[in-house]
Formats: sequence, C-alpha cells, structure tokens
Amino acid sequence: MKTIPLTIRLFITAFLFSLTIYSCGIQEKKEVNQNKTAESLKIDADLAAKGRFIYTKKCMECHSLDIAVKGPALRDVTKRRKAEWIMMMILKPEEMLEKDSVAKSLFGPHMVKMTTQDVSEEDAKALLEFFRSVETK
Ligand code: HEC
Repeated sequence: MKTIPLTIRLFITAFLFSLTIYSCGIQEKKEVNQNKTAESLKIDADLAAKGRFIYTKKCMECHSLDIAVKGPALRDVTKRRKAEWIMMMILKPEEMLEKDSVAKSLFGPHMVKMTTQDVSEEDAKALLEFFRSVETK
C-alpha cells in the first residue's frame, strides 16, 4: 500500500488546523452574544420603582403580590406570561377578557372583571419592570 504523499498530508493537516481555529471563533462569538442577552435582561431600577408606585396606587385595590385578592397574585406573573400579554392585560383588560382564552379562564375563579385603569403605555412598561424586579429567583 502506497503512503500518502507529503503535500497531501500537509494539506490535510493545514485544513484540520484551520477548521479548529474557525470553530473556536464561532464559540467565542456565541459567548459574546450570550453576554449581550444577559445585559438586556438587566432590570432598570428606576423604571421598576416607578412601576411599584403605580402598582400601589392603581392595582392594589384588587391585587397583592402573594395572595389572590379580587384578582390573581401577581408575583411571578412574568414567569407564566409573555411580556406582550401582560402589557395587553394592563392596557386593555376588557378587550382581553372578551377575546383572549387565557384571560377568559382567569375570570372564572375570580368572578370580578379587571377594569381598564388609566394607565399609559409607559406606565404599563414600568409596571412590567416592577413585576420583573419582584420575581422569585
Ligand atoms: C377591579 C379590580 C382590578 C384592578 C383595579 C386591577 N386588576 Fe388586574 N386583574 C383583576 C382580575 C379579577 C383579574 C383576573 C381576570 C379577570 O377576571 O378580569 C386580573 C388579572 C390581571 C393580570 C393577569 C394575571 C395572571 O395571572 O395572568 C395582570 C397581569 C393584572 N391583572 C395586572 C394588573 C395591574 C398592573 C393593575 C393596575 C394597573 C391591575 N391589574 C388592576 C382585577 C383587577
């Protein structure tokens, strides 16, 4: 059996070498991207404080963080629902109770309808940030 010529062996070695370098590059890029996501998930403390203030004024009549009052307990609502869903529920509860199956299913056990509070989109964002800040770890 003939041995593989030196040039081809060198070529294969070089190819494997560059492949290794290339995949290390990909790995590094991935890590950078992961860091970016972690960064964007950081909680904006000022916004959360504003949210807490609005929550105290406009939501505590029916909600508590840990006990179901007229409405469900809201701690970890950020874990069970998507951000957009929460925003919609805060901004347009009546529409959600008419059209959204999850919102409808919440009405059953509570027998009270969440009413539209005078909340702007900015306020709703602040409330969402507040809920994120009180999540259990
Ligand atoms: C009049 C009482 C009332 C007020 C005031 C109220 N809610 Fe609600 N909320 C409810 C009820 C009751 C539900 C359950 C759905 C239903 O029956 O309307 C609910 C549901 C929710 C949900 C969904 C909970 C889940 O488990 O998915 C969120 C989020 C929410 N409310 C946020 C707020 C925020 C934020 C405010 C203040 C801006 C607020 N609510 C004010 C009564 C109220």
